[in-house]
Amino acid sequence: MDKLVIEGGKPLSGTIVIQGAKNAALPILAASMLVEGKVTIDHVPKLLDIDVMLNILRELGCRAEHSNETVMIDTSSAASSHVPEELMRSMRSSIFLMGPLIARFGEVTIYQPGGCAIGERKIDLHLRGLMALGAQIEERGSRIVCHAKRLKGAEIHLDFPSVGATENIMMAAVLAEGLTTISNAAREPEIQDLQRFLNTMGAKIIGAGTDTITIEGVEKLAPCRYQVIPDRIVTGTVMVAAAATRGQVTLQNTNPAHLTSLIHVLRRAGVQIAVDGDIIKVGCANRPRAIERIVTSPYPAFPTDLQSQLMVLLALADGVSVMKENIFEGRFKHVDELSRMGADIRVDLNAAFIRGVPRLYGATVEATDLRAGAALVIAGLASHGKTIVEQVHHIDRGYDRIETMLGRLGARISRYSPIPNNGIAP
Ligand code: UD1
Repeated sequence: MDKLVIEGGKPLSGTIVIQGAKNAALPILAASMLVEGKVTIDHVPKLLDIDVMLNILRELGCRAEHSNETVMIDTSSAASSHVPEELMRSMRSSIFLMGPLIARFGEVTIYQPGGCAIGERKIDLHLRGLMALGAQIEERGSRIVCHAKRLKGAEIHLDFPSVGATENIMMAAVLAEGLTTISNAAREPEIQDLQRFLNTMGAKIIGAGTDTITIEGVEKLAPCRYQVIPDRIVTGTVMVAAAATRGQVTLQNTNPAHLTSLIHVLRRAGVQIAVDGDIIKVGCANRPRAIERIVTSPYPAFPTDLQSQLMVLLALADGVSVMKENIFEGRFKHVDELSRMGADIRVDLNAAFIRGVPRLYGATVEATDLRAGAALVIAGLASHGKTIVEQVHHIDRGYDRIETMLGRLGARISRYSPIPNNGIAP
């Protein structure tokens, strides 16, 4: 397994261009199965999760190529609706294939998906949504078999605004007969991006970005070329890293409107932020201030995917902050690792009480999941001495070569890969 070695204590500085959004690209790649022909998607980052999705599409019979940041998928030869168990297990987002495959082939076999170890991550809302559209679902152990002649539009209310369930139902309903409405839908920007992509192919969807989405089923979609939105979580990660290292960073290709809650929180902590079109400038000359209370909730509230990164800044802030995690129950795994670096954090159920310390110290720590790993990298950059982050494959799921990206901002960070038969170098 790769490791990252970080010499901390250097403020980040310079300019960086933000990658395309993983969480927008994944459902869009899955949705390409809804059309027969060649789809071209631009600004798709090189990530482990994207590789897995493209491998699944190849297993289903598609041709798929990813060169530079463009993905070309030809779905004309797709023949299978069986997603292999091993690939299903390696990534939670494999569940996105369910909606498109049932819509295109009238059947799909999948398995319980895998993903980050951040909580239970059920799929009941996905299944109930598809059943409401007329799919018959049989669960045999981890295997899920789903049939439908042609899906029929329905009124679907989600008990919780799940991002993935909203997207899966949208994709299934696009080719269903009649009208579908999803109420209490998730409002994340990635859902708006999926709507734009599907509508570019000829779908008739309105309402993404609000809590009610309406989909008028169409007979057929047409291939298109599309560019995904900038990654708001990568943007937020770099913003927090700039502030935690007391640096000065310019981020290009961002969408500041997608980061209103983070910008607000960082300003309250005393971080200087200037916004100009798609550019965000972040600077932090002094020790940040603690923030009394932050709660993660569905968009547009503070995102769970930035909770661990922000916690590093608060661990260095002046005063006591409280962070409440409302989305995933297992999302404080980074706390133990941060404590080993000198952070003073106490967890009680879903709340973390963070007493800021003047400095953190380098240590050997383990990335337990994607965003926790990103937080440890920020902690390493902001601390005194050397930090080794292990289990980097978690970070590679969502950040395109994080060491190259941060190296451009002057970070002293290198990756070491195992050498066969000879342990880890150096
Ligand atoms: C997506 C994001 C992920 C982010 C999360 C919340 C992608 C690829 N991933 O994940 O980065 O952290 O949104 O913003 O876009 N739930 C159920 N039943 C279901 C589905 C979800 O109970 O059928 C629960 C989950 O256990 C969790 C909550 O709903 O507690 C939110 O999950 P959801 O919004 O579905 O997240 P994902 O789509 O998996």
